[in-house]
Formats: sequence, structure tokens, C-alpha cells
Amino acid sequence: MADVVTQRAHYSPPWADVSIIGIAGSSGSGKSTLSHAIVSKLNLPWVVILSMDSFYKSLDEESSRKAFRNEYDFDSPDAIDFDVLVDRLRELKAGKRAEIPIYSFAKHAREKETTSIYSPHVLILEGIFALYDPRVLELLDMKIFCEADADTCLSRRILRDVEERGRDIKGCIKQWFAYVKPNFEAYVEPQRKVADIIVPRGVENRVAIGKTSLSSHTFQLTYGKVMVIQYIERKLIEKSK
Ligand code: CTP
Repeated sequence: MADVVTQRAHYSPPWADVSIIGIAGSSGSGKSTLSHAIVSKLNLPWVVILSMDSFYKSLDEESSRKAFRNEYDFDSPDAIDFDVLVDRLRELKAGKRAEIPIYSFAKHAREKETTSIYSPHVLILEGIFALYDPRVLELLDMKIFCEADADTCLSRRILRDVEERGRDIKGCIKQWFAYVKPNFEAYVEPQRKVADIIVPRGVENRVAIGKTSLSSHTFQLTYGKVMVIQYIERKLIEKSK
């Protein structure tokens, strides 16, 4: 029996060295859509998206009241629980199961329940600060920065926050100019420097996502050398050698 327990403790699945792709970019730049597009285009059985939104810190009562008045800064790196995020990423990287917090945007709070993620072949970590913390950067195999015009980001964000996150238009605009925009300039945009590739215009950039849809000639004329899927596949092949 003791042997079985010891063996279990040392068992690591063949995909223990999960590849992690970090996708950063402005709020509303299309990170989650890009992530889903990668999942559907990658020819791999087990690709999981982990949103950094799951790692927003819990708020005390005073901060929670501010949040409901759109006066809390969710766009500073201090709002994110990087310690827990790093722990979970390390567990997944080691082939283990990780318990992920569930976050409610409508309540500005973590739910009591968590959700389990099993170590996949490829993990996509998407969030405004996916390329921010040095401990996270060390765990990433690929780094992508998703770019879109600010007006595109703002309009996408308003629609989403009103439809899905229980917000009103006035509050969205107030939060955008007080926190989202200035912190984009201070903390989010500088992550471009550490990215391996920059995807212009997010997921609307079908050329960057699509495998064979357009000729390489058109592609070069249009977007330089960005081909997300080819880039990821090449990296995965290099890693498996
Ligand atoms: N946020 C909020 N209220 C909270 C927690 C976070 O309004 N209680 C906002 C922050 O202002 C931050 C944004 O959530 O800017 C982060 O999510 P976002 O990047 O917009 O969503 P994704 O779907 O991850 O990304 P994308 O819009 O690029 O697809």
C-alpha cells in the first residue's frame, strides 16, 4: 500500500510539461475571442483557456462599495492575486490538477465554489496582465500581445459589460477614463516589449488566425510576419524535439 502511495506521489502524466501561452492586451482587445480561435484551430486534443479574471482579489466592504460606484481600480496589477495564480500555474505545469477560483463580475467577488482544471497539453493564460509578473513570464512558453484600437476596445467593453457583467453605460465610461485607459498606458501597453508576437486588431485579423485561408503573399502585404497558429505549432514542435 505504501508503495502505491509513493508511486502515485511520483506519477506525472506524459503531458506534465504543459506548454503555456500568455495572451495580454487591453480590455476589449479580443483576448478571449483570440484564445477561443486558437483552441478551435490548433490540432490538439486538450487545450484549455485560463482567464486571469479568476484571480481578482476579494474586496473588503469599503472597496466593494467603491466597486459598485465604479470607483475601484481593477486595472492596477495590485488588483490581481499573482501569488495564487503562480501557484496554480506551477501545479498545472507539473501535471497536477489545480483548483481555480470562480469570479463574479456582477458581484465584484469570488464565488465560494472553485473549478478544477487538469493539466492540459496547452494552457492559454489570457488577461490584461498575462505578460506582467516575472514569475509568470518564466512559466510561459509563448507570449502574445493582442492589439486593437482604443475606440474598438471601449465599444466592445461597453457592450459586453452591459450585456454580460451587469453594468450600466455611464459606469462603464466613468471606469474606462478613471482607471482602464491610464493603467493601459502605464502597465498593459508596456507588455508589448516582452511579447514574441503582436497580433494586430485581435481576432478580426483573420489572416493571423487562419491557416491557409489567404496566400502568404497577401499575408505579408497585410500584416508582416504574424501567423499565430503557425507560430504556436512551430514552438510546440521545437519543444518536443
Ligand atoms: N473588471 C471590472 N470589474 C471587476 C473586475 C474586473 O470591471 N470586478 C474589469 C477591469 O476593469 C479590467 C477587465 O475587467 O479592465 C478585465 O477583463 P477584460 O480584459 O476586459 O476581459 P477579457 O474577456 O479577459 O478580455 P477581452 O475583452 O480582450 O476579450
